[in-house]
Amino acid sequence: MTPRKRHVLLLWMLFCSGMTEAIEPISTSIAVGMAAALTGFLASYQNIFYYFHECCRPEWISFNRTGLQADLERKMFGQHIASRIILKAVTGFMSNDNPKKPLVLSLHGWTGTGKNFVSELIANNIYKEGMDSSFVHVFTSELHFPHAKQFDTYKSQLQQWIKGNVSNCGRSMFIFDEMDKMHPGLIDSIKPYLDYYDKLDGVSYRKAIFIFLSNAGGENIVQTALDFWKAGRGREEIELKDLEALLSLSVFNNKQSGLWHTSLIDKNLVDFFVPFLPLEYGHVVQCAMAEMNARELPPNLKVAKQVAKDLVYFPKAERVFSVKGCKTIESKLNYYT
Ligand SMILES: *[C@@H]1O[C@H](CO)[C@@H](O)[C@H](O)[C@H]1NC(C)=O
Ligand SMILES: *[C@@H]1O[C@H](CO)[C@@H](O)[C@H](O)[C@H]1NC(C)=O
Repeated sequence: MTPRKRHVLLLWMLFCSGMTEAIEPISTSIAVGMAAALTGFLASYQNIFYYFHECCRPEWISFNRTGLQADLERKMFGQHIASRIILKAVTGFMSNDNPKKPLVLSLHGWTGTGKNFVSELIANNIYKEGMDSSFVHVFTSELHFPHAKQFDTYKSQLQQWIKGNVSNCGRSMFIFDEMDKMHPGLIDSIKPYLDYYDKLDGVSYRKAIFIFLSNAGGENIVQTALDFWKAGRGREEIELKDLEALLSLSVFNNKQSGLWHTSLIDKNLVDFFVPFLPLEYGHVVQCAMAEMNARELPPNLKVAKQVAKDLVYFPKAERVFSVKGCKTIESKLNYYT
């Protein structure tokens, strides 16, 4: 290691460990020495800040409420209930310096309705590096835990990962995709981290965020949306209370895919159940327009409508909701433009 690299590393460690906390147990003379050394480094390396790695400090992790609200309004379509709950939940949690438990969100709905996307928006407005942050962890059952037989290995691995990462940074975020495909025992193994413990083995999990994504309950949500549509009622009239019961215990009882869900509800570990409504033609058009905008293409409503029109809608007779939501828009757009 060159001296220059060593200095940068030292400096990074100093900064990332939180200077005051690190120095406290050390004698003042060492602290003074460190400060002097630091000043020296800063003076000799003008470009030092370019070398900084992401670290667990407010410079890298701070919640932007305005940003999240703007993103939810401008980039999420057709999800008035989910948007509202998420803004409220994340704002409440992030503005509390001493939460009693980690924030646990369970997002439910049909594919392509924006569950992954909204997780990204949350990450983008908390971590400077967004989804690329080393404090954001995504687990997909098919990718990370594919073989039921190796459950025991996965279990201890997952527990170690969560513990290790939260020890590194209390403000860590864990996203579990395809929760309904995950081994129920695996979910059980992370339950302690979601609970109201001050500390577990000396680690506090209370500032972490856990987000569970699943299709569980999706069919019921679709049915409600369809009932409203058939009754000629506006989609915006659907309220949380119309869907809440659908995500409740009784519905998931005795259903294999719902086992994890049941045990999480049972213990009240999930703070918010967030329903995602199926998307209609109009929303798909909006998604396509937003995607053009994101790619800095000139907005072309005609193309957007064409893309939306060529998707498959259900139920067969009414053709109200997009089967894949906005999921395939990105690739479809390549084809049309
Ligand atoms: C928060 O987000 C808003 C809207 O995206 C942006 O204009 C603002 O600069 C952000 N604030 C910070 C501190 O990043
Ligand atoms: C943090 O989680 C990642 C998986 O996202 C894992 O590869 C890594 O080993 C974990 N870090 C620690 C310190 O446990």
